[in-house]
Amino acid sequence: VDTSLTERATVVMNFIRGLVPGELHYPKVAVICGSGLHHLADALNASPRVEIQFSDLPYFPLTTVEGHVGKLVFGYFGTVPTVCMVGRIHFYEGNPFDISVFPVRVFSVMGISTLLVTNAAGGLNSGYKVGDLMVLNDHINFPGLAGWHPLKGSNDPLFGPRFLALSDAYDLELRQQVFESAKTLQLGRAIHEGVYVFVSGPTYETRAESRMLKMLGADAVGMSTVPEIIIARHSGMKVLAISLITNAVVTEPTPKASEGPANLSAGKANHEEVIEAARQAGEDMRALVLEIISKL
Ligand code: 6GU
Repeated sequence: VDTSLTERATVVMNFIRGLVPGELHYPKVAVICGSGLHHLADALNASPRVEIQFSDLPYFPLTTVEGHVGKLVFGYFGTVPTVCMVGRIHFYEGNPFDISVFPVRVFSVMGISTLLVTNAAGGLNSGYKVGDLMVLNDHINFPGLAGWHPLKGSNDPLFGPRFLALSDAYDLELRQQVFESAKTLQLGRAIHEGVYVFVSGPTYETRAESRMLKMLGADAVGMSTVPEIIIARHSGMKVLAISLITNAVVTEPTPKASEGPANLSAGKANHEEVIEAARQAGEDMRALVLEIISKL
């Protein structure tokens, strides 16, 4: 039986409502916790608080990456009812796009009005250092431009329009709130605003690819976030996305063999380094997210 997107999302919503107390049936905000940032959910008040594994939810995709559990945690950030998605689904895991962004459709039918997305990203901008934050003010959907787009296929007008404008995707007031909150917290990290380029992964970029992405105007590169942002915008949510710069991307041309000995491994990206940088920034990210949401 071909069950419509709306029907599937509604089934999941009702399933969730059977598990969480009535006061949490209408979360206001959804937070997607990026790589190494799943402790963001620890900032939710201890009670009431309900965790639901992806594997227990109908129609939900499963995460396969190490360091990514898959669960929804319902609770309160301060007084704001929130759901945290811990462990997201990446395109490179092989799920069809409509499956990988399905959780955001569920958020939409639950009436969530604001989506806050975090991620770990590689810094392309030479002014960015490991541990800096970047508030997304625009993106480049690289797979999307080539036809791998999360809204490809029939459009469900119950969610949004066929031809969605994305020129105002990143909410100005929410972005301003990041800077105000960082000031209140006296956060000792540089916060940039810039362009995130979404690439499919799972490989990290070659040097030539990184130079190309930089030339295209991207400040940071990663394998997530953009599909979720697009679905959230299609569903009429306000979005805020923050990247943690976990490594500086190597863009220098590959040393030439003809020019003698060279160090090819300097600056080579690896998953452990990415997770460790995210872990170290975890506390600041948690404080920042809590402060931003408490002001909503
Ligand atoms: Cl360098 N590239 C990509 N694609 N994703 C990343 C990354 C780099 N660093 C963290 N995530």
